[in-house]
Amino acid sequence: MSRYEFPENFLWGAATSAYQVEGSPLADGAGPSNWHRFCHQPGRILNGDTGDLACDHYRRFREDIALMKELGLSAYRFSIAWSRVFPEGKGRPNPRGLAHYQSLVDTLLAHGIQPMATLYHWDLPAALEDAGGWANRDSAGWFADYAHAVIRALGDEIDFWATLNEPWVVMDAGYMSGVHPPGHVSPKEAPWVSHNLLRAHALGVQAFRADGQGRIGLVVNLEPKYAATGSREDRAAAERAHAYMNRQYLDPVLRGTYPEELAEIFGPHWPRFESEDLRLIQEPIDYLGVNYYTRAVVKHDPLGGPLKVSAIPQRGAEHTEMGWEVYPQGLKDILLWVKARYGDIPLYITENGAAFADPPPADGRIDDPRRIAYYRSHLRALHEAIAEGVDVRGYFAWSLLDNFEWAYGYAKRFGLVQVDPASQQRRPKASAGFYAEVAQSNGAVLDREY
Ligand code: FCB
Repeated sequence: MSRYEFPENFLWGAATSAYQVEGSPLADGAGPSNWHRFCHQPGRILNGDTGDLACDHYRRFREDIALMKELGLSAYRFSIAWSRVFPEGKGRPNPRGLAHYQSLVDTLLAHGIQPMATLYHWDLPAALEDAGGWANRDSAGWFADYAHAVIRALGDEIDFWATLNEPWVVMDAGYMSGVHPPGHVSPKEAPWVSHNLLRAHALGVQAFRADGQGRIGLVVNLEPKYAATGSREDRAAAERAHAYMNRQYLDPVLRGTYPEELAEIFGPHWPRFESEDLRLIQEPIDYLGVNYYTRAVVKHDPLGGPLKVSAIPQRGAEHTEMGWEVYPQGLKDILLWVKARYGDIPLYITENGAAFADPPPADGRIDDPRRIAYYRSHLRALHEAIAEGVDVRGYFAWSLLDNFEWAYGYAKRFGLVQVDPASQQRRPKASAGFYAEVAQSNGAVLDREY
């Protein structure tokens, strides 16, 4: 067994997002968000769950920050709910919404925890969805106004920002499969949604350059795609899947072009984008946030939707409760790929973690050995990537708390800390103890097969 040390000043944090943990969605003058509305439509969310209460973090954030302090975390990644700041999406800001985040940030700083704020983690003001949402070209300007207002109000205290969380999910789940709001299945809208999200991101970076200090970046979810066989067809299928999920966002931001495969995938719906837009989207960023959970093994399949791809289940491999294969090597592979393709941009792992069905507490303890093993193996893969020269500067566990997992409601538990839905009692799991030791010692004993 050997100890793995991480680089000096490495950040160890945990992540959450507004709609998943806050509850009180309409408090203090907030407007309804697309997620609030979606959850209240019958049949949308497993078990009819909603974010009405969630982890009650809107009211209990002080307790949660004290918990982070006890664990020895150096950073907290959270998101700001646009509909609290602009109840109607635009127009006059709501001072009480901004005041909430001001208190959150003050409390973090008082505990020596660095705030890392994401401006958009999927909850769009419902009024803006009614105005066409991300499919409307004006959405980028709405976001820019919102970014300016937030950065002006909080920019003195927060010096670590992200514009968007996972634009791919906003597009794919919102406009291709329809399992997230607005629930459309529309390959015609989807490319415009991605494009407007990227324009919004770039304008958000510009807003930050005008009024902010520190760093701003984009958070993407990356999932390596491996061809099931060495055949030409399967390799092309893996390239298409990779272009759709990973390169669709990174290529325009970091290289100024969309992958050619997208024209093949979207066919007649693939738009001709203005070169001026592509210039804007290349606005330089300070770092890239990478969310990593799993990989996919794919083959060519003429019946596999617009991508003509289907995934091959990896029988015998370990899977989490999400049905996601546990594959730590994929984290190392994708980080090495980012470095090879885009050069030495500073990276943060902005999410990584696993859902497992936890046993009920026994003597006040919740033993979650599989979650610990997941963290351990992924941290080891991360350490290997760093040893091979990838510039990773921090890591955020997903998630601090068991929370509202979107279309799955409360059925999937990612927390280091269990939250009892009825009493709201917080109970750190064994994995919280493991992670606290990693954070406090800037390393761990990580030797273990994976
Ligand atoms: C990511 C999301 C995050 C959470 C995890 C499990 O795609 O960014 O909100 O739901 O997955």
